[in-house]
Amino acid sequence: APTLLWGGRFTGAIDDLMFQFNESLSFDKVLYKADIQGSITWAKALRKLEILSDDELQQIITGLQQVEKEWEEGKFVIDTKSDEDIHTANERRLGELIGPAAGKLHTGRSRNEQVGVDMRLWAGEQLADIAGALKGLLAVSAERAKEALPILMPGYTHLQRAQPVRFSHWLLSHATFLKGDLQRLEGVQERVSSCPLGVGALAGNPFGIDREFMAKELGFHSVHPNSLCAVADRDFVVEILQWASLLMAHLSRLAEDLILFSTAEFGFVQVADAYSTGSSLMPQKKNPDSLELIRGKAGRVMGQASGFLASLKSLPTSYNKDLQESVEPMIDCIKTVSNCVRITQGVLATLTIHGDKMKAALTDDMLATDVADYLVRKGVPFRQTHHIAGAIVRRAEEAGVSISALPLKDLKEISPLFEDDVAQVFDFERSVEQRSTYGGTSSSSVLAQIAAIEAYVGKN
Ligand code: ARG
Repeated sequence: APTLLWGGRFTGAIDDLMFQFNESLSFDKVLYKADIQGSITWAKALRKLEILSDDELQQIITGLQQVEKEWEEGKFVIDTKSDEDIHTANERRLGELIGPAAGKLHTGRSRNEQVGVDMRLWAGEQLADIAGALKGLLAVSAERAKEALPILMPGYTHLQRAQPVRFSHWLLSHATFLKGDLQRLEGVQERVSSCPLGVGALAGNPFGIDREFMAKELGFHSVHPNSLCAVADRDFVVEILQWASLLMAHLSRLAEDLILFSTAEFGFVQVADAYSTGSSLMPQKKNPDSLELIRGKAGRVMGQASGFLASLKSLPTSYNKDLQESVEPMIDCIKTVSNCVRITQGVLATLTIHGDKMKAALTDDMLATDVADYLVRKGVPFRQTHHIAGAIVRRAEEAGVSISALPLKDLKEISPLFEDDVAQVFDFERSVEQRSTYGGTSSSSVLAQIAAIEAYVGKN
């Protein structure tokens, strides 16, 4: 029978399937580095309490560094009979390397606090990396927006042509959502960075271990304030999953727009070969698989968020093994999000933008609001001008012409206030440039948005 770390009080052997069912090393091994960092810090704190001698501390640190090296080089040999999780695997190997001193490392410590420290350290590092990737995505969005500034496209509501906007403005609308995700991430990162080390299995530490010292040494923001809560606390995982769900919703909406815009029917953009794949049957096909996967993976992340929350909801106080179910979704979600952000950046950086196609899709009826506004400027209440402009659209439709082709005489029949200068209204560029207030689609407003994003991501 395997020698299990906790085996002292057991007489019977663990069932084989139960061992596999219980083990988490197959997925929590990615936490190896965090686990070793946490253990080195723990050993230093034990030294401060004189539980370890200088020599024992040195042996433990050197041994743990060796274990880390083995993981790094892919040389760590897993004992499939006894290594239950990353904590037991590292401790078992340390014992083989340095002998009895290894047996002192776990003094006063529980895996319940260890797993929390490991997950938080690992997640903190990954989230910082994702924040960097998101900033990269924002920077590319700003860059492409700047380059495409002159391009006008139909703006849509209900997927019906609504008013002309700058393509850059559309792109920045997505960047604005993503900037919100980055801002929210800062709060998540702060709460992830709360150190549970020193809380014991549930009740606290009986040796007076210096929790403040350990938190500082590991670079945490704060020390977790309650031992019972700390070993049960996976709120940081829920927050990561929920934060990621909203981010993925944003990436998915951008993906959906681009998938639609890249159809032959729209033809506004073309996804680069690097981010497309072909059909095994239809030789002509080029499919935007990158974007479809992002859209699909959004569902996966949202499922992980609601799935883990369901595991959490009825747990009694303190640690329960159900909490191990937080590890896989956290790791998978972070990997998914990291890939999706990077792929989105690649798609945007290499996207071909067909300004001519967008321009061709602009129709004069999209200026009906501008016609109404023309009369507003002559003092007519908007509710009336809306009605008048509507009548003009109807008249043009009946005549089978665009609203700009109706003779002034027809317009005057509808409202005598129309003059020759109404011709100026039928100009998409003018319509867009009039929307120059903060957040609008005029070039000055768009340039201000670009500057704000560049400043936020630390460029300029
Ligand atoms: N693998 C476990 C987890 O992920 C580590 C903690 C185990 N603690 C315990 N008391 N069995 O939650």
